Formats: sequence, structure tokens, C-alpha cells
Amino acid sequence: MFKEDTLKGNTILITGGGSGLGLSMGKKFAELGSDIAICGRTEKKLQNAVEELSEFGTEVQYYVTDVRDYEAVGKMFEEIINEFKGITGLVNNAAGNFLSASEDLTPNGFKTVVDIVLHGSFNCTHHFGNYLIDNKKEGNILNIVTTYAEDAGSAFVLPSACGKAGVLAMTRSLAFEWAEYNIRVNAIAPGPFPTEGAWTRLFPTKKVEKKYLEKIPAGRYGNHEELANLAAFLMSDMAPYITGETVTIDGGEKLSGGQFNFVDSMMSRGKLKAIFKMMKKMS
Ligand code: HXC
Repeated sequence: MFKEDTLKGNTILITGGGSGLGLSMGKKFAELGSDIAICGRTEKKLQNAVEELSEFGTEVQYYVTDVRDYEAVGKMFEEIINEFKGITGLVNNAAGNFLSASEDLTPNGFKTVVDIVLHGSFNCTHHFGNYLIDNKKEGNILNIVTTYAEDAGSAFVLPSACGKAGVLAMTRSLAFEWAEYNIRVNAIAPGPFPTEGAWTRLFPTKKVEKKYLEKIPAGRYGNHEELANLAAFLMSDMAPYITGETVTIDGGEKLSGGQFNFVDSMMSRGKLKAIFKMMKKMS
């Protein structure tokens, strides 16, 4: 689908790139010729990821950095710029989340998730943006948000919903402000893509998971490859005129709130169609 050198000449930092969707995006970017920097809090995880990412033959480095720490993020950018002789792309992927009734949240629980999601994205974006602007270079920023960042929010994940909504606002604000510097800022809003991080924290039982699956019109979860392809496209020269955009990739899950969509879950499609025919005859 992509030419194998689609991302050649790029150096892309993926926050939280040691596992899950971050690692999947890293593999796709490396396969398409990009050098890769990943950061996270757990060194062992990052070391294993570098081993996997190195298979594609591009340069790969890891940085043990907590995105909540502005100074540490600045130091990481300095190191990346020295080691890779520059940086062209940033994927704000690092996230934190857990299920909780909002009245039971502690202030620190709320703060922790918002710090990772919103402040972490700001910290990386601010350092990266300043580097690009000071050096008159163009670049790409991709923010991984969620489908509940917009519109409805979501019960039981209040800190994440608030943090991700902030990241979405940042995406649109900076896309306008930094277009002048040839910096594109886009977002992907993934629906359910199985990862250990999300699944262990958000699906406490098999029953919850089954119920969740029922609300996805496509009838399945996403494959990492599908999201990685979209990310590669947005980070590449194939999308130079796209900025400020949020692309939802969720098998139609977000549309499940349509006013009459619920009837589909009450009976089989065959029965439903029979009723519609009967109603037509009666009208
Ligand atoms: C209530 C909780 C909690 C829980 C932690 N806290 N887990 N409160 N329910 N399950 C509270 C703690 O009590 C503490 O507050 C505060 O949060 C900080 O907790 P720590 O464990 O000290 O923080 P830390 O080690 O930094 O861990 C951060 C984390 C953790 C967010 C809590 O879950 C984490 O590291 N997550 C990273 C990976 C992740 O979450 N991936 C999922 C992303 S999925 P007090 O007051 O007690 O000190 C995603 C997309 C969703 O975002 C879409 C999927 C379909």
C-alpha cells in the first residue's frame, strides 16, 4: 500500500512507544524508513521495544522519560536532536486511564491522568514546536485522543475525558497558530484497539468486554495495523494539506448514539426488516 520509503528522512518521537499502539505505530514508521525515538517510564519495556523496532534497519533509541516532567522532556529533546541530528515528528501517544466513579476520585487521581495526557502532550509539543520554529524547520505532530474527547465525554473515565478534550483543543488551536511555520497538527481518535494497558484497566470482566463489543457496528475490535497505517499517512508527505483534523477510527462505534440505532439491538436484522415491511403495508 505505502512505498517502502514513505517516511525516509524522518525522525519521529513516539511517547509511550514501548508498548501497545505506540509500539505498533513505531514499527509501521520504521518499516516505512523512519528513524524512531521512543520514551516511557519503564526501561525494560523500552529495551524490548527497541529490539523489535531495530528489525527494520533504521536508527532506534529509547529515552526513560516521564512526559509529566517538563525539564526532563526538554533534556530528552536535546539528546534526540544531538543523536539523530534533528527531529521531524512527534506522536503524543502516552496516556493514563482507569475506571472510577467520579465522586470517588481523589484529587491526585484526577491530576495524575490529566498530567500524563494533557500536560505531557503540552510538554512534548512545546519543546518540539520551539525547536522547529527556532530552526525554521517544518514538522508534524499527531495526537492520539479518544472518541469520547469530543461530543459526549464519557462516564467513569472523567480524568481521561477531560485530558483528551484538552488535547483536542490543543490540536486545533496549534494547527491554526503554527500553520505559518509549516507545522501540521492532527489527531486520531481511536475506538477500541486491544492493548494490555487499556484492557486491564478498562475491561474488568469478560462480560463487560462482550457488552462493549455489541455496540460496535463493525462487530469487531480494531487491528493495530489499521491504526498504524492511518498514523503513517498523516505523518507522511501524502497529507501535506491536512492539519487540525481529527480522524476517528472506531468501526462506527461513535455513531451508536443515533436516535433509532437502538432498535438494531432488540432483534435480528431479518425480523426488523419484516416489521418494516409490515409497517409499509399498513401505511
Ligand atoms: C481510582 C486510582 C486508580 C484506580 C490509580 N489511582 N489507579 N484511583 N481507581 N484504578 C489513583 C491513585 O490512588 C493515586 O491517587 C493516583 O491515581 C496516582 O496513582 P499512582 O499509581 O501513584 O500513579 P502512577 O504510578 O503514575 O500511575 C498512573 C496511572 C496508571 C494512570 C494511575 O494507571 C498508569 O500508569 N497508566 C498508564 C497506562 C494506561 O493507563 N493505559 C491506558 C490508556 S487507554 P492518591 O490520591 O491515592 O495518591 C486510553 C484510551 C481509552 O487512554 C480508550 C479505550 C477504549
